[in-house]
Amino acid sequence: MPERFYITTPIYYPNAEPHLGHFYTTLCADAVARYRRLIGDEVWFLTGTDWHGIKMVKSAAAAGVSPHELAAKNDQSFFDCWKEFGFTFDDYIRTSEPRHKESVQEIVRRMQASGDIYLGAYEGWYDEGQEEFITETEAKDAEFKSKISGKPLMRYRESTYFFKLAKYVDAVYRAIESDQLLVRPAARKNEVLSKLKGWNQDLSISRATLKWGIPMPGDAEHVLYVWIDALSNYITALGYGSDDESKFKRFWPVDVHMIGKEIMWFHTVYWPAMLLSLGIALPKQVYAHGWWTSEGKKMGKSLGNFIDLDRLRSTASKYSLDALRYYALRAAPFGNDLDWNEGDFSKSFNELADVLGNCLNRVINMTGRYRDGKVPAAGELVDSDRALLDQAKRLPVQLADAYARLALHECATLPIELARATNGYIEATAPFKLAKDPAQAGRLDTILNSSAQAMKIALSAMLPILPGKALEGLRQLNVPVEGKTLAQLTDEPLAAGHVIGPGAPLFPKIDVK
Ligand code: MSP
Repeated sequence: MPERFYITTPIYYPNAEPHLGHFYTTLCADAVARYRRLIGDEVWFLTGTDWHGIKMVKSAAAAGVSPHELAAKNDQSFFDCWKEFGFTFDDYIRTSEPRHKESVQEIVRRMQASGDIYLGAYEGWYDEGQEEFITETEAKDAEFKSKISGKPLMRYRESTYFFKLAKYVDAVYRAIESDQLLVRPAARKNEVLSKLKGWNQDLSISRATLKWGIPMPGDAEHVLYVWIDALSNYITALGYGSDDESKFKRFWPVDVHMIGKEIMWFHTVYWPAMLLSLGIALPKQVYAHGWWTSEGKKMGKSLGNFIDLDRLRSTASKYSLDALRYYALRAAPFGNDLDWNEGDFSKSFNELADVLGNCLNRVINMTGRYRDGKVPAAGELVDSDRALLDQAKRLPVQLADAYARLALHECATLPIELARATNGYIEATAPFKLAKDPAQAGRLDTILNSSAQAMKIALSAMLPILPGKALEGLRQLNVPVEGKTLAQLTDEPLAAGHVIGPGAPLFPKIDVK
C-alpha cells in the first residue's frame, strides 16, 4: 500500500551562504524522500528559509545592508544551491511570503482563542545567535555565554506576550516518553525529558523592541518571537489556516522533522505545545543529527577549516556530486557527530571506485568478452551462488528496515556491501580462469548471471544515495528505471539474453591525496 510521507528540514537563516551543515541536513532529507518515492510512496519534502529575528537584524547591520536585502540575497543562494545539488524538495517556503505571514497570524489568533496567550513582562537571559531564552541556572552554568557561539548572553527586560507553555508540559512529556512523538536518537530523547521534567515556565513570544518580524495580531507594537514564526512553517506551507487546507489534510502529521541537535528543544517542546494549543496532531518523529567538525576542530572561518559553499562545489566537481553525497551520509552512524577529513574522504571515494564501479565494470567486461554482452541463463546453483543471491535478495528488506530507523549510514553502505560480496564472489569463482576451459561453460554462465543480478540490485538500492551514478550504472546494465519501484527493479531478474554494456568507469580514478 503506498503511503503518504511528509519530511522537512529546518528553515535556514539566510544571513550567509549555505555551508556543509545546511547541505548535510538537506541531503539527509533528500535521500529519505528519494527512497520513499522509489518504494512508491506519495512524498512531500519541504525546505526553506527563516527571514526574521534579531540574528538577521544584527548580521544585516554588520554587513551594512537592510535585513530584507541580506535575506533576499542569501535566500537566493540557498535556493539556487539546492537546485544545483539536485535536491528534490517539493516546496520551498520563505517566511517573508504572504502565505506564511497570513497563516502565522491565524495560528496566533487560534492560540489566543484557546486562552493560551497573555500579556506580561519578561526578564531574563537571551542567546541572540540561537534566538533562544536561557534559564537562570543554564546561564550561570555557561558563565553567561552562548553554548553554541560563545558570545555573551543578553539581558532582556521588556513587556511581552506569553504563551502558556507550562499548561502543556505534562502532555508533551507523556507524548515523548511514550514515543507517540518519537524523538531520536534515544539519547536526545532522554536529554529533552530530563530538561522538561518539572518545567513550569511560560514562553515569551513577542518583542516590543524589534521591528523585523511578523506583527502580533491585535498589537502592532510587538513582533512575534522568531521561533513561533519559524516553527509554523511546517504547516503554513501546507496551507494551514488558509482558504485551502487540502494539502495540510493530506500530509499532516509530518513523518519526520529532520534537524540538527542544537534545535531539539524548540522542535520537541515549543512546537508540540503550540500544536496542542491549536488542537492539531503531533509530529510522528523528530530526528536530530549530529554536528560536523572539520579536520577534528569546530568549523571556523578564521581557522581555515570551514567547509563552505565553494568547498562543497569544488569537491562535487572534482569527485562528483554523488561521491560527496555518499561521503557525507556514511561519515558516521546517523545521529552521531561527524568529522570532515581528507583521509576519510579518500577512503569513501575508493569504496565507490574500487568496489561499486570496479565490480560493475568487471561484470560488463566479462559478459562482453565471453558472451557477446548477453547475460547467459544460469545453470544449476551451488552454495557460493546461492549465498550471493540470498544476500542480494535480503538487501531490499534490510534497506527498508534501515530507512525506517533512519540509519542513513547503513542505507548508504548496505548496497556497497553487496557489491563487495559480488567482487569477492568473482575473485573466489575466478570466471577468467573458467573461460579458458570449454568444459566449464555452464559454470561460467551461472557466475556471470549471478553477478549481473547482484549488481543490478546493488545499484537499484543505491538510487536514493547516488541518484546520478546509480542511474548511469543501471543504464550500462541496460535497465530502464523510469516509473519503476524499487521492488520492480530488484524482483524482476535480468532475462537470459539481456544485452548489457558498454561499460565505462562510474567513478574515474582521481589523484586522491
Ligand atoms: N532558522 C533556524 C531553524 C528554524 S526551523 C523551524 C536555524 N537556522 S540555521 O540556519 O542556524 O540552521 C540550523 C541547521 O543547520 C541545524 O539544525 C542543522 O540542520 C544545520 N547545521 C548548521 N551547522 C551545522 C553543523 N556544523 N553540522 C551539522 N549541521 C549543522 O537554526
